[in-house]
Amino acid sequence: MKHKEADVLIIGGGIAGLMAAEYLSSHKNVIVITKFSAEKSNSFLAQGGISAAIDEEDSWAEHFLDTLKAGRHHNDQEAVKQLVKEGESVVRTLTEWGVNFDRHENGSFILGKEGGHNRNRIVHAGGDQTGKKVIEALIRRVSKNVKIVTHHYAVDLIIQDHKCIGVSCKDDENQTTIFQAKNTILAGGGYAGIYGTTSNAFGSDGSVLCMAYRAGVELSDLEFVQFHPTLLSDRVPAGLITEAVRGQGGILINSSGVPFMKDIHPLKDLAPRDIVSRRLFQEIHEHGEKVFLDISSIKDFRSKFPGVTMLCENAGIDLDKGLIPVSPGAHFTMGGIVTDQSGKTSLRGLYAVGECANTGVHGANRLASNSLLEGAVFAKKVTNSILSSEITDMKPATFKRKKNLEHKSIQIDGLLQESEIHLLMDKYAGIVRSKKELMRVAKTLNLPSWRPDLIKEPLPVIKRFNMQTIAWLTVTSCLKREESRGSHYRKDFPSQKKEWDSKKIIRSLWHDESIIAEKTVAGIFN
Ligand code: SIN
Repeated sequence: MKHKEADVLIIGGGIAGLMAAEYLSSHKNVIVITKFSAEKSNSFLAQGGISAAIDEEDSWAEHFLDTLKAGRHHNDQEAVKQLVKEGESVVRTLTEWGVNFDRHENGSFILGKEGGHNRNRIVHAGGDQTGKKVIEALIRRVSKNVKIVTHHYAVDLIIQDHKCIGVSCKDDENQTTIFQAKNTILAGGGYAGIYGTTSNAFGSDGSVLCMAYRAGVELSDLEFVQFHPTLLSDRVPAGLITEAVRGQGGILINSSGVPFMKDIHPLKDLAPRDIVSRRLFQEIHEHGEKVFLDISSIKDFRSKFPGVTMLCENAGIDLDKGLIPVSPGAHFTMGGIVTDQSGKTSLRGLYAVGECANTGVHGANRLASNSLLEGAVFAKKVTNSILSSEITDMKPATFKRKKNLEHKSIQIDGLLQESEIHLLMDKYAGIVRSKKELMRVAKTLNLPSWRPDLIKEPLPVIKRFNMQTIAWLTVTSCLKREESRGSHYRKDFPSQKKEWDSKKIIRSLWHDESIIAEKTVAGIFN
């Protein structure tokens, strides 16, 4: 077994992890740990851009309101304010760090439009390749001062005296390394990869959420899974057709050519994603239709969307016909590890940032192109928090362990295969949910009991264990929220309910009842 040490460990190499690494590197010795090669993150795949109220006529207040509307007011308003106020400064920083955002000839930014935004507000780089351009620039910069350890899967947090002091990892050869550090930042992405139909090509199996959960750290809002309306139909993995295509005039039509979003919402095809995805679900599953994105009105499609063009051409789609077959799929997860606005979790020494964190910024449905923004903004906050924590110490965690959960051994034979979990989640916990179906899948997923030495298992078993854990947590959270709000739609409770307005479903392996009461949560399982 190998041992390595740093001042700060960062698990995950997307925008949040790399920006935190860059900010911290002039003060601390930092190690970034990634599952795959450094380029393989879902940030790298991001076709959408960064939303920022840059236009003279725009304001952070308008961006704030659009974010709350999309999130169905389940958002933490203070966190949203902090997010949207930073848009311009994030774009400026990334420009200084080498990202060439797309501009008009006069040097001003080209601002695109995406779902839920009332005006053009999205900056892109390389057309539909913002994530790639941002991550490439960050890797170039970060790798000068920071060690990036690739092909290492973080398995469990190491806890001593109620403090996180590092992480155990397995590499592709099944070798274990113990990384120790005073501070650990989880930046390992979400859990949309538990669905078979997903835009997340790089294994978003919720592993960092599971690590946190096993250590007694709180998770929240897991029922809120965003389904993107336009994934390329019938392809595995299903590539994303960016919403910016609709921002440029692309229209959703069915097999008879009917533009079915016309009368559904004032923003039509650019309504918030939950609304568009549910309408597509209806067309496909209730009316037996096929759905297409009509791109015939978009001039210079290939140069505006080089990534989508390559994706379609590789799939044998003739873009000259002007129609791209699309269907919705899991894209982003709003649920995550509960943090305060500086990224602190309920465990000392442990922080979370980006998609794996739940700051409350996205509410029940994330606004388009707010995720790269979130990663960048909260990376800075987490850095400030770590740099100042030597002066003002964090509040110690107060976990009480529930007796009946103590260390039963894992039933490896009882674990489902990845493909079985994909199928169950797609079929029973997707865009339209109901108690009957959720109960069925919860029973099948039946959370395996915990063992403290997961690191001793082979990597494929650890991955399946994590996927089944986060799938079970998601499904049981879906069951608990007996209303429809944002991305969470229950056909047996089809409306949004007042009594759920301020309630969050918090999940914790061993919880302290007083924490729960204070947060007015709806109740927990376990
Ligand atoms: C897209 O380009 O449609 C996705 C961008 C995002 O998820 O915000």
